[in-house]
Amino acid sequence: MTRLLLGAAADVLRREIATASVDMVYSDPPFGNEQIWTGKAGSFDDRWEWSAASSTGWAALKDHSAAGAALLAAVARSAPSRAYLGVMAGIIVELRRVLKLTGTLWLHFDDTMGAELRVLCDVIFGAGNAIGTLVWVRTLGGHGNSKRFGRVHDTIACYGRSRAAKWRLWRIGTLGGDPITGDGFGRFDDFAIAAPLGPTDKERVGYPTQKPVALLEELIRAATLPGNVLLDPTCGSGTALVAATRLQRKSIGIDISQDALTAAQARLTGPATAQPSFDFGEVA
Ligand SMILES: C[S@@+](CC[C@H](N)C(=O)[O-])C[C@H]1O[C@@H](n2cnc3c(N)ncnc32)[C@H](O)[C@@H]1O
Repeated sequence: MTRLLLGAAADVLRREIATASVDMVYSDPPFGNEQIWTGKAGSFDDRWEWSAASSTGWAALKDHSAAGAALLAAVARSAPSRAYLGVMAGIIVELRRVLKLTGTLWLHFDDTMGAELRVLCDVIFGAGNAIGTLVWVRTLGGHGNSKRFGRVHDTIACYGRSRAAKWRLWRIGTLGGDPITGDGFGRFDDFAIAAPLGPTDKERVGYPTQKPVALLEELIRAATLPGNVLLDPTCGSGTALVAATRLQRKSIGIDISQDALTAAQARLTGPATAQPSFDFGEVA
């Protein structure tokens, strides 16, 4: 079963999602790239200026840890990055609240704000709950700029809600997983094996920055068992929800854009997703 909820993630989480109710969060938020991303199925704005959400997010972070908020403020380099990190702080504080003690956050980002997002997650989840980072090679091109290294990979950082989360990943790997390949920790090295989407890939729905279902299936199999709940608070075209549904997990998708939810809904009800039941009543 899938729920789709429209709105800013921090607000929707606060209003709609119960404490300690989610087994896994995957989030592929805007990366703070200061550009508008456009595709034929929608667009989203990744340019940042101070907003009420930035202010609320910084306040939530300060409530969680005043020292941590001061540390993050010291590494935030510019006005747009402070605005962006405020919004991300508001979301990630809420994500920690909704995760079960055994649950895990998988946060997907690139180099643009990667260092700051790691500090933010260390502050909110505790550095001792950092489980590791995966590298995913998202394109095989990218060497067109002589002033910097070609940017061909993203990073996915994994954090446990508590120490029990690491134990659960191990249990999934040893007890719940595929006896040959293994799930959980045994499933892959810190290099996620899933091919990037090609420009004419059949899977593409035209939503910008769409990720491959195979990547999400890898992560979901490592962190959950059938019947568990996956939440994606910035779900875009719903790739994580499609993967969760195929693997018989329940899922909740949130996005601030109606275009994103329309694309996600079309995928979830389409022939490529075996969908046992779909809760249309929850679509905002
Ligand atoms: C990188 S895209 C996600 C792409 C997605 N993983 C996919 O495969 O289609 C980021 C998404 O975050 C959404 N977004 C941006 N700010 C948000 C916020 N405050 N709350 C919820 N969603 C937000 C955007 O509308 C966009 O759809």
